[in-house]
Amino acid sequence: MGDYVKEYLARTPGSKNLFERAEKVIPGGVCHGPRYFAPHPLYINKTRGSKIYDVDGNEYVDLWMGHYSHIMGHQPEHIARLLEEKIGDGTHWGIVNQYQVDFAEEICRIVPCAERVRFGVSGTEATMYAVRLARAYTGRNVILKVRGGWHGPSTDLSVAVHSPMDVPESAGLPPGVAEYTKTISYNETEQTLEMIGKYQSDLAGVILEGVGQYFIPPEAGYLEAVQKAVQKAGGLFILDEVITGCRLGITGAQGRYNLQPDLTTMGKVLGGGMNLGLVAGRRDIMDLSSATSKLSKDKKVLMGGGTFSCMPPAMITGRTMLKYLDDHKDEVYPVLEEKGKKVREGVEQALRSNNVRANCFGVGSLFTTCFPNSDDSTIRNFEDVEINSDMFKREQEFRVGMLNKGVYTMYGGGAVSLAHTDEDIKRIIDAAEAVAHEMADDF
Ligand SMILES: Cc1ncc(COP(=O)(O)O)c(C=O)c1O
Repeated sequence: MGDYVKEYLARTPGSKNLFERAEKVIPGGVCHGPRYFAPHPLYINKTRGSKIYDVDGNEYVDLWMGHYSHIMGHQPEHIARLLEEKIGDGTHWGIVNQYQVDFAEEICRIVPCAERVRFGVSGTEATMYAVRLARAYTGRNVILKVRGGWHGPSTDLSVAVHSPMDVPESAGLPPGVAEYTKTISYNETEQTLEMIGKYQSDLAGVILEGVGQYFIPPEAGYLEAVQKAVQKAGGLFILDEVITGCRLGITGAQGRYNLQPDLTTMGKVLGGGMNLGLVAGRRDIMDLSSATSKLSKDKKVLMGGGTFSCMPPAMITGRTMLKYLDDHKDEVYPVLEEKGKKVREGVEQALRSNNVRANCFGVGSLFTTCFPNSDDSTIRNFEDVEINSDMFKREQEFRVGMLNKGVYTMYGGGAVSLAHTDEDIKRIIDAAEAVAHEMADDF
């Protein structure tokens, strides 16, 4: 057992105890895979701003930020106050309310491709319905997705997320899934265009994120080329902005990279701390799901927002967050860019100057630390991370090491928020420096 594991065990007996209890009643002890790590996950009982607190009373600078949701930090004061004020009116009505209209209007005003929007409660549903809309609208079947790309675990998109890529992503999937969900490699323009050409006559659409897996930046021209080719082929360009929406700028990746998706999916940041997923896009496509449409059943798209869709608290926090970010966009996004750059450069420098070969990459406030095999390793997509780096082994080491120093990371990085101060950033870089001493290799 590495010293870093011993240190972690000594710091977190309360978490260990809770995990042992959890394993007896929850398969594997967690309800979402990435929340597990060895020797046991950290159990949290309080959050505020850039900090989280575990059940043993340890404080951490948080970079995971609720799966990259909390762009203003945990519990921004004005949203927490508003929620407190409104919660007494009821949390769940199951009947239409003004808050969803107000929120939808703001989304259609701000998100470039949004002419119509439908709310659900998770990004998983949103991407599942986006793909269904694309198939219905085009009357075609094939969807192209990026290898390693995660859009939630819906049946259609549970293809080629983890290696080995040609093995079904899960047991229990119908045999035909991979037949209609084909894969492309991020940033490989020629190969992607070839695939679009190959499936052209039955291509319903391409779904991808503006950034690659692990926040690998898009190469100049890649996204535009994919968009142009898929739209020319008669398919839809679906931009999954569940992470990037209102994160890479108020208009997300579509604004940042000047894209015109036919459909987009959002969640995380836009929930303002509550659960949310939404599909938005062109009116003629979205209207296939209209509750008042006269279309016959075989033309209409079944979309169920679900029992908990449009709950007032989520509509209120979401709209308030969106409005805040829009009203303050000229200050918010440059600050996030600067903080993101500072952390990426600082962590990479802290590791490299202490003999740990590392690359911190990302876009805006998002970042990942990758541990390449050599200085010549190229990392342009998920396959490169797998082949050309020790990411999966070293990241675990780095994560537990960073926890011991009071920093919570995911994939060696995470999402910097407005709540992260210069002092927090220094703490992150100092922690990386200290962990580097423990990880140091000879390169
Ligand atoms: C790009 C992307 N799409 C979709 C999803 C699924 O969203 P949710 O976890 O809200 O279901 C995620 C979740 O991490 C995501 O990162």
